[in-house]
Amino acid sequence: MNHAKQWQVKLGCREAFAELSFDVYANHASVSPLSEPVRMAVDEVMAAQTREGAGFFMAEVERREHLRERLGTLIGADGRHEIGLTANTTAGVVAIAQSLPWRRGDRILLLEGEFPTNVTPWQQAARRHGLELVWMNAEDFRLDRTAAMDVFEKHLKQGIRLVAASAVQFTTGQLMPLAAMGALCRQHDSEFFVDGIQAVGVVPLDVKRMGIDYLACGSHKWLMAPEGAGFVYVSPEKAEQLQPNLAGWISHEDAFEFLTGGPETLRYDRPFQRGARMLESGTFNSIGCAGLSASVGLIQSIGVNAIYQHVQTWLDALEAPLLNRGFESARMPDREGRSGILSVRPPDERPAADWASALAERGIACASPAGWLRLAPHWPNSVAEVEKVLQAVDQLLAR
Ligand SMILES: Cc1ncc(COP(=O)(O)O)c(C=O)c1O
Repeated sequence: MNHAKQWQVKLGCREAFAELSFDVYANHASVSPLSEPVRMAVDEVMAAQTREGAGFFMAEVERREHLRERLGTLIGADGRHEIGLTANTTAGVVAIAQSLPWRRGDRILLLEGEFPTNVTPWQQAARRHGLELVWMNAEDFRLDRTAAMDVFEKHLKQGIRLVAASAVQFTTGQLMPLAAMGALCRQHDSEFFVDGIQAVGVVPLDVKRMGIDYLACGSHKWLMAPEGAGFVYVSPEKAEQLQPNLAGWISHEDAFEFLTGGPETLRYDRPFQRGARMLESGTFNSIGCAGLSASVGLIQSIGVNAIYQHVQTWLDALEAPLLNRGFESARMPDREGRSGILSVRPPDERPAADWASALAERGIACASPAGWLRLAPHWPNSVAEVEKVLQAVDQLLAR
């Protein structure tokens, strides 16, 4: 069902978030509030299971195919074949890290400063398969991108099996040079894995154009859906090499046939699906998927390009006055390095966490990861809110 039609879902309009308790919600990089259409979609699925029990299941399987397509469209992929549904971002990273046919001594390039989701599973794969971890610093790409890309290429020339990077750094909001990294990975025969959760839904992404082989993403940030759903993308070129190390009953072809077929259809030798779909193992989070499908529908009805522009306008309106008040901004000077996040360091001695709490008391939701004060608006935020943020900031500076 297209809930967008019943609601005013347009840039800068909060009508679908009537119960949201903050005056300014700029914390989408942590967890997004749910819109009324998303809640309705969740309610519908719960009502269906309440009414029908197992009877809702086959319709649910169909709904998931639709969700796959929607998610594929968001990142330039063929959703039917290249998207697998997961429980969260981490599940996607773990699935790829455990399913690649590693060779002892393979080298993985990781970034210091990343959210641990995109580190721990690679460390575990390294321990288990005798791999070597090579480190760069994510901050180097923000402070001197050209120099960092030179170092990056030097590492690739020495032989890197896989590069794992977040599309957007969760602390500074740096949008990584994905297309340039992907092109170098191709050139040097390295695979490119991207944690997309801080980008998908707010930053236009195209996995094919950017040379991304794998992408994992969760639902609760820029996709504005309930927690506990997510997806993984696997490019068709890499699909064949994945091993069914984490396979379960849904990983097989025609996995549901025996549920309604004769006794001969209960078999354990069915071939596995390939790529992302093989990584789906068991029963899904139908509630999370329903919310995710509704929220992605809303995002697509507005368009990610338009959302990106809108968010930049909001952040532009805030960043300059904050700089004038002595804040330090982590935002990159050019558009290619900008995401939905503006991270700043306050000009006084108070830790960023104290600033975030004081702003919350004044009705402004933001976060303070690793010492940065992080503001992250999305499509419902109106540019008029910026004035409220500045008023609160001035009150706090005057204290
Ligand atoms: C870059 C990044 N990756 C992953 C996550 C969370 O991963 P998961 O969806 O597995 O909880 C976060 C959340 O804070 C994040 O900022």
